[in-house]
Parts: sequence; C-alpha cells; structure tokens
Amino acid sequence: MSNIEEIKKRRTFAIISHPDAGKTTLTEKLLLFGGAIQTAGAVKSNKIKKTATSDFMEIEKQRGISVATSVMTFEYRDLLINILDTPGHKDFAEDTYRTLTAVDSVILVIDCVKGVEEQTERLMEVCRMRNTPVIVFVNKLDREGRNPFELLDELETKLGIRVRPLTWPINMGADFKGVYSLFEEKLYFFKINKTKIESNVVEINLGDDKLEELLGLKDAIQLTEDVELVEGVYDEFSNEAYAKGELAPVFFGSAINNFGIKELLDTFCEISPLPQPRATDVREVEPTESKFSGFIFKIHANLDPRHRDRIAFLRICSGKFERRTFYHHVRLNKDVRFASPFTFMASDKSVMDEGFPGDVVGLYDTGNFKIGDTLTEGENLNFAGIPSFSPEIFKELINLDPMKSKQLEKGIQQLTDEGVAQLFNLDLGNRKVVGTVGELQFDVIQYRLEHEYGAKCRWVPMNITRACWLTADEKPAMDEFIRLKGNQIAFDKDRNPVFFAESDWMIRMNRENNPKIHFHFTSEFK
Ligand code: G4P
Repeated sequence: MSNIEEIKKRRTFAIISHPDAGKTTLTEKLLLFGGAIQTAGAVKSNKIKKTATSDFMEIEKQRGISVATSVMTFEYRDLLINILDTPGHKDFAEDTYRTLTAVDSVILVIDCVKGVEEQTERLMEVCRMRNTPVIVFVNKLDREGRNPFELLDELETKLGIRVRPLTWPINMGADFKGVYSLFEEKLYFFKINKTKIESNVVEINLGDDKLEELLGLKDAIQLTEDVELVEGVYDEFSNEAYAKGELAPVFFGSAINNFGIKELLDTFCEISPLPQPRATDVREVEPTESKFSGFIFKIHANLDPRHRDRIAFLRICSGKFERRTFYHHVRLNKDVRFASPFTFMASDKSVMDEGFPGDVVGLYDTGNFKIGDTLTEGENLNFAGIPSFSPEIFKELINLDPMKSKQLEKGIQQLTDEGVAQLFNLDLGNRKVVGTVGELQFDVIQYRLEHEYGAKCRWVPMNITRACWLTADEKPAMDEFIRLKGNQIAFDKDRNPVFFAESDWMIRMNRENNPKIHFHFTSEFK
C-alpha cells in the first residue's frame, strides 16, 4: 500500500469529557464494535477509580496499567482508528491538553443530566485554540435529563461553537424510546425487555401515519414539532464547517446501553478528518511528504524501580517511520534509532516495524526525550502547538538532604521534562518553584524523588494563583520590569521570564501600568 493510501485509512482522535460523563463506557463500546476487545469491562481497569482519588499510589498503579490503553487501535469499515486515551482525573488535565495536540479530531461526551461542566469548558478551549473538529455525544438519555434544546443552547454559549443535531431523542429517562436520525430519516427504537436491550430501525418519513402507530400520538406530535424546530433553528450540517472546528454535529444516546453508538461511529467514519498537516516553527508539514517527521506528546514513567526506563509517545506527522533507522533528534542535535518501537494494536503492545502519519509509536527512553521534542530525517524544525498552561498551585521545593542536591536537581529536571509539573526558577537565592494543576502531583513528585532518585524534599506553599509568560516590545523595558519586580519574576525551563501573580487583579494592574510588557496565559506566544 502506498503512503497516501495508508494515510487515508487512518483516523486519530480522543474522547474527552468531564469525569463520569461516560468516556470510558463509550470507548469500550467503540472497541467492541471494532472487535478490538471481546468483553465489556476490559477498558475499565484503565480508569482511575473514585475511591482512589486521594490515594496517589493507587492512581499511579492504575496509570501504570493505562500504558497499554494509552492508544487503542482498532479496525472498522476499512479504517484504522486510533483512540488516544486522556486521563479523566482533574489533576492530570495537563496530560489531556498535550494529548489533544496529537489528535486530528475529538468526540466530546456530555452527561444529559449535568450538561456542560467546568472541565469540559477548559478542554474545549484547547480544541478551539487548534480548531480541532469536534463531535458531541450527549449521553445517559436513559436518565431524566435536561431539555435537549436547552442543552444545545448551553453547548453553544459555554463552549463557543455552533452545534447541529444529527439525531434527536424521543423522550428521556424511563420513557426514552430512541432517536430519530435527521440525516438518514430513520427511527432507531430502543427497548429494554427485562435485562435485554433491543434496538430496531425503521425508515420513516415524519409525515407518515405509521409514526403515530409506532410512537403513540403524543410522542409522534412532539417529535414532528421538535424536528421542525431543529430544521428551522439550526443551519444544515456542513462538513467544511465541522472540519474547521466551527460546527459540532450532536448525537444523543446511552453509552451503557450501547444505544446511539453505531450511528455515532458510522458518522465519525464518514466525516472525521484524516491525518492533518501540522505547523512547525519553520513551515507546515504535510502528512504526504516522503520524509518522516513526528513529535513526542507524552512521556510515561515506569514506577517499578527495577524498570526505570520511560515510554515516550511519538505521533507520526509525515513520511514513514521505520524500526532501527536513524532519525534526527532536533533539540539534542543527534541521531537516534529504536530497536523495539511498539504499537498498540488490539490493546496489546507489539513491535512496530513501520508506522504512518496518524500512528502513535511507543519508544523506550532513558532520558533523551522531553515533551514537545521533534524527530525528523535531518531537517531542523520543531512542531508547534504544545503550550504550557499556567499552573494553579505553586510550591517551593526545599531540599532536605544537602548531600543529595545533585540527585534532587536531576530528579526534578527529569520529572518536569515528563510533564508531571512545571518548574520555575527564582534567580534571587536560586530557589525552585514547582507549579501543578492539582495537589496530587506534589505527593507524586515527593514520592518519586525519594524512591527513584534518593532525594528528600518538602514543600512550602506560595501565595501565587497564576503564572504569566512575559514578552516585551523592547529588551530594556523587559530588563527594567524584571529588575523592579524582583521575586515576582521567575524563569521557566527554557529561561522565558514569567510573572508570578497573587491575583487576577494584580495582573490587570501590572498590565495597565506597563504597556510595553505583554502578559500571556500560555507559554506559546511566539
Ligand atoms: P468517565 O470515563 O467519563 O469518567 O465515565 P464512565 O464511562 O466510567 O461512566 C461513569 C458512570 O456512568 C459509570 O457508572 C457508568 O456505568 C455510567 N454510565 C455510562 N453511560 C451511561 C448511560 O448511558 N446511562 C447511565 N444511566 N449510566 C451510564 P458508575 O456506577 O460510576 O461505574 P460502574 O460501577 O458502572 O463502573
């Protein structure tokens, strides 16, 4: 098969949701359709269980299990579909943001009872930054949820994207009868007989008398009115607007009951984008280019001290990746090759001899990689689009054992290269500040520093709520600002200056008083 045919076959996407909306359940159902797993429950082990949310060791163990499910590949309708897993736990939100840089599209799961929740808004912000195409799946229709029109309004206002329902529910909760497919003009019936779920498909025109026979008068009228309203209010579905990330098609269903999933998957296969071109600091890279390129979007450490190596996840962007071939590691300016890169077919790890754009390769790493690193066939370019977001919690790292300073230094550098947390340096007194999105990471870092690097530390909380990356119109203005602000200025790992703010008010005030200085909420501002 030629490279182009391989590219056309591939779809690489992530399922995102607020925890508990049904991401794991949906993933599992999709894998069942693709024949990648045989039994329900196979993906569950990957989920961080609620009982473990305050027990980081348990979470790390479960994250360990999740290496195998980081990428789930299955075949369906001649396509090779890669689902990139994203951790649902809020404290690992950064992992999710980074994974979103490696996909070509997203399915967003919403709980019909809860509607758009906080974490969903943040995730969609990341999708919008990159114009990632989004399909919305409104889940748990077997529960008494919110009015679908209200949910659609909320999606538009809170997520800042136009929506277009492609299916429409007939009732919810105990009365949930199924969905009507607006583009196929088919009724998908849903019935639970004791424990067995039955689904029936009937092709029907909404004006047909048979509709009343099938649904009863009340529901037939309601559906007809709803569909008229939908057609009147929402523009027709446009594939182009979807591909640009401007319009999200919406599906309704119930993942646990496997209802509405096939329609979702079939439409996904029809409309979702193939591997897309990607921006670099030099030029845009097309997947069809003959030379290989790719970038690291995730690094997974092995908690088992007997196996200290890490796994770096590479997204292939162009050309063909081959085992045992030298590739150029742009940041380190050296050539590297891999004896046993692996792939994730059918949730088993197996050695990958060759890979194509859209594929994700697992690479054993002994510390050569940092998140965002680029591999090429020699060209000096760096893939863009892996920003750091401001952490929310900041603590100073205090070394408890002066004899182990070197180990502490190495440990914290490596852990932050993995993306566990962000590291900042306060030049005054050479103090180290670690920023995270959740308290859990501090426990994780402390534990790993001790067990993997033999270094002991403690944390001193800092009164900072936000870090802003700084740029200036001219260098003297920046130098002056840095001099004036003293310990409110730190430097990130790439020596970019960062302003530590105690409150949003303080950012506003400093912005007003220093018009030549620009404050950025993500590290990607070039
Ligand atoms: P997540 O990955 O987004 O966090 O959600 P997950 O799929 O684990 O689903 C969260 C809970 O919602 C699970 O129940 C799951 O069974 C349930 N669920 C998923 N889809 C549906 C649906 O269509 N209808 C209803 N009523 N429930 C649904 P749990 O009790 O928390 O977990 P479990 O004990 O069932 O594993």
